[in-house]
Amino acid sequence: MSEDIFKKIIAHSKEYGFIFQSSEIYDGLSAVYDYGQNGSELKNNIKRYWWDAMVRLNENIVGIDAAIFMHPTTWKASGHVGAFNDPLIDNKDSKKRYRADVLIEEHLAKIEAKIDKEIEKAQKRWGETFNEVEFRNTNARVLENQAKIDQIKKRFVDALNANDLEEVRQVILDNDIVCAVSGTKNWTEVRQFNLMFDTKLGSVTDEANTIYLRPETAQGIFVNYLNVQKTGRMKIPFGIAQIGKAFRNEIVARQFIFRMREFEQMEMQFFVKPGTEMQWFEQWKETRIKWHKTLGLGNENYRFHNHDKLAHYANAATDIEFRFPIGFKELEGIHSRTDFDLTQHQEFSGKKLQYFDSIENKSYVPYVIETSIGLDRMFLAILSSSFQEEEIAKEDGTKDSRVVLRIPPALAPVKLAIFPLVKKDGLPEKAIEIFNTLKYDFNCQYEEKDTIGKRYRRQDAIGTPYCITIDHETLTDNKVTIRDRDTMQQERVEISKLHEILDRKVNMKYLLEQL
Ligand code: GAP
Repeated sequence: MSEDIFKKIIAHSKEYGFIFQSSEIYDGLSAVYDYGQNGSELKNNIKRYWWDAMVRLNENIVGIDAAIFMHPTTWKASGHVGAFNDPLIDNKDSKKRYRADVLIEEHLAKIEAKIDKEIEKAQKRWGETFNEVEFRNTNARVLENQAKIDQIKKRFVDALNANDLEEVRQVILDNDIVCAVSGTKNWTEVRQFNLMFDTKLGSVTDEANTIYLRPETAQGIFVNYLNVQKTGRMKIPFGIAQIGKAFRNEIVARQFIFRMREFEQMEMQFFVKPGTEMQWFEQWKETRIKWHKTLGLGNENYRFHNHDKLAHYANAATDIEFRFPIGFKELEGIHSRTDFDLTQHQEFSGKKLQYFDSIENKSYVPYVIETSIGLDRMFLAILSSSFQEEEIAKEDGTKDSRVVLRIPPALAPVKLAIFPLVKKDGLPEKAIEIFNTLKYDFNCQYEEKDTIGKRYRRQDAIGTPYCITIDHETLTDNKVTIRDRDTMQQERVEISKLHEILDRKVNMKYLLEQL
């Protein structure tokens, strides 16, 4: 997929009420977005798919909703005040600011793309007999490029681990990485930039009243660990899940809802016995990838990417990457956070955050496996993979086109659109009668304006799985024409069968049953 498709998706999501730039009438606020009438329905459905998969289906996982504001010491204990930084660099000619790590990663992706091209060419040449593993291990150009990637990666990771910002800059210079705007290598030094937003609590604006907008929801779970464990009488292993807003003052935020300054996370912290964390880490990797693949967005669109540089709290970490229109990028992180957070909060608060294990007959600070997915990124994954422009043949032999969002039906914002063929002869009344019987179980939309063809196009564009048309015969035979979004097949069915047909297709229960 190309930049062009990405632009089309952005334009489409505005035109059809999915996403608007925040405060657009004032020319917008950079990297902040509002969800419109269809966007918020889709977002709520994604939340439900995640929440039910985590909380409802697992007896040992419960959900909470912690406040965005937290005691400022939380962020000292978690390490965010000292280390939640991005290395930034400016180009002196264009005055454009970049994340140094992103510049290097994009450079690596370009070399990776060269390898992919070689493989594609060879695949075409050899067809069925092509062996990719052998080709990667023997082709001189591929080997040369892979060695380049490995060498740059190692230098860069070593520099980051040693917090050697001068060396990070040197990697950029040595690899001739230039600014996309000015085309020059006239770079400033690399500086660390803390991503947390701060504000003041109450009316006194001195330093002591500085509080932060949470940069992750996880800490709201950690500080409530004991409250939940005791009041819920939870036994290890158990999890606490939460969906909520997080805020980061991202330096480079030019990729629509992929990187926002205000966004939402769906996080789950799973508390386990020390020493069992690697087994649970593997288990959660499997569980989470299954949750993604069950949606049917295409198994080939996912891959795991293990972290080269581990965060200060982790002893293992991997990303589930998704093939966005801008390439394979992080969609979800799975981290083995050790006992870092609870131990830190124990130390900074002076309160014991331990678990008494009655089987082992001893107390310990549990280890934690975290699964953390960006709700907005999940939204973008669904939107971008379901967006399709299609050419379709009309009955008279001419060609037409449509844009269709093939959103998984259980997540679609509107499940059923109800059309009276004409705005008279009692058809609207019959249509509204059907609407009123189905609206309690399904989000339905009633439309009577324009031709049926135009109404179909509008519903295709927002991903509605079914449309029904009420015509004159309906009044006597109690049947309607039902049209399927994906196949565009039409069928005449009894009104009394509609509930069952819809339920089979759109009820989230059937998705959850596959997990
Ligand atoms: N508690 C761990 C944590 O916050 P993270 O990798 O920084 O880890 C987790 O973030 C997920 O949150 C990411 O995989 C991504 O989906 C989402 N995310 C992070 N920063 C984001 C941003 N600026 N805009 C949108 N989503 C973001």
